[in-house]
Amino acid sequence: MTDLNALSDAGLFEKNVPRYTSYPTAPHFHGDVGSANFAFWLETLDISKPVSLYIHIPFCERLCWFCACRTQGVTTLSPVEAYVDVLLQEIALFKATRPEGLKLGRLHFGGGSPTILTPALIDKIMAAILDATPFDKEYEFSVEIDPTACNDEKIEAFARGGMNRASIGVQDFNPKVQEAIGRPQSYELTRDTVGALRRNGIESVNIDMVYGLPFQGLDELKNTVELVQSLAPDRVALFGYAHVPWMAKRQQMIPEESLPGAHERFEQAETAAKMFVDYGMDVIGIDHFAKPEDSLAIAARNGHLRRNFQGYTDDRCVALIGLGASSISRFPQGYIQNNAATTNYIKSITLGDWSAAKGFSLGMTDQVRARAIEALMCDFEIDLEEITATFGDFAKPVKADCVRLAKEYKGFVTFKKGRFKVLPEGRALTRILASGFDAFNAPNHRHSSAI
Ligand SMILES: C[S@@+](CC[C@H](N)C(=O)[O-])C[C@H]1O[C@@H](n2cnc3c(N)ncnc32)[C@H](O)[C@@H]1O
Ligand code: SF4
Repeated sequence: MTDLNALSDAGLFEKNVPRYTSYPTAPHFHGDVGSANFAFWLETLDISKPVSLYIHIPFCERLCWFCACRTQGVTTLSPVEAYVDVLLQEIALFKATRPEGLKLGRLHFGGGSPTILTPALIDKIMAAILDATPFDKEYEFSVEIDPTACNDEKIEAFARGGMNRASIGVQDFNPKVQEAIGRPQSYELTRDTVGALRRNGIESVNIDMVYGLPFQGLDELKNTVELVQSLAPDRVALFGYAHVPWMAKRQQMIPEESLPGAHERFEQAETAAKMFVDYGMDVIGIDHFAKPEDSLAIAARNGHLRRNFQGYTDDRCVALIGLGASSISRFPQGYIQNNAATTNYIKSITLGDWSAAKGFSLGMTDQVRARAIEALMCDFEIDLEEITATFGDFAKPVKADCVRLAKEYKGFVTFKKGRFKVLPEGRALTRILASGFDAFNAPNHRHSSAI
């Protein structure tokens, strides 16, 4: 039985902590790392290993009020076309800089809504990408799909380009919840979009859901889970609504009194998780589910699960290169983020330069903490022997943290024979525990709630 009082004493219901899609997290990136690092890190990549490429499309036909993603609403196609022209220039710069022979292991289009692109624009971008870096023998190409801004022709265009995975945004099917988040989307339209994806040979379909939304009670959530299950997704991401109106101004449209409280959020997360497990899916990390035969579930079983800016992944490429406004790249040496403001991004790329705005160069002390936090978020376990074998004496502060946290969170974690393990009753605290290994974690920094 889950001991709510003990979880509450451990801070689950009042602590705000990062989601740890990177370490250090993006607020700690700074302007001393920029375009010169990006160019050097790119041109010195080892071509024997394929890379991942992320393309950001920061536009949507609708602007959902709950959404904290970097995107802007547009009513005509002309800003999108102008942006694609600039993106093509950035891809050309990428081609001119990357080492000859570099191959693509992963490609991901995110946003915003990549499905705002017309088939002609999709074809153009794909031709440029594949001219710059062809796919490796084995590759995965995924696209974030907004069913309300999609049609068969767009899906066909992405499939022509090689798309073999897709992620569909659902959030919640209840009309009242949808109205409160400014995001109407029928079950039928979503079902037809899944059908079109399957017809086009898409092997793996993910569905994004969100709990903790305005007017979302347990019944609404359960009903959405059942409807999502009827679509037979291969993966599900169940995010806790991050209410951060100081950052995502459009969330000010959401009345705070309509939001479920922390205890309700906890019950929602637990209930939906149980329903997906009963349905036959494996639990992946803190907020994903996958069919046992899906590659994400296989990676989780084999200890190969990773965490990047898109969440959980089985991507083992050594570098993730982000193109487009606000995109974040990860190289073995560190992180670089492009200008978040689309106008600034367009300005620098049009001048023939990169558009890196800030970043972080990873020293050994950062790398060892990054590995420990990723292991905790993915495997609920830190193997100090493995970390020490890689990082030597740099692993000592992580060991000290394991000792300290094992005392502080007794009953939720164990630290025995060099293994720091989160017990099943402590899993809800994983982000809080990860923050215990974060050397940058300031107690009053504003993040989303831990549950
Ligand atoms: C970049 S959005 C792209 C989705 C696509 N445009 C759509 O609407 O279908 C990716 C996902 O982030 C999640 N997301 C966005 N804002 C969020 C928030 N404030 N809290 C939790 N999850 C959020 C949603 O589940 C969303 O589907
Ligand atoms: S949820 Fe999707 S469609 Fe809605 S604003 Fe965010 S990115 Fe755009």
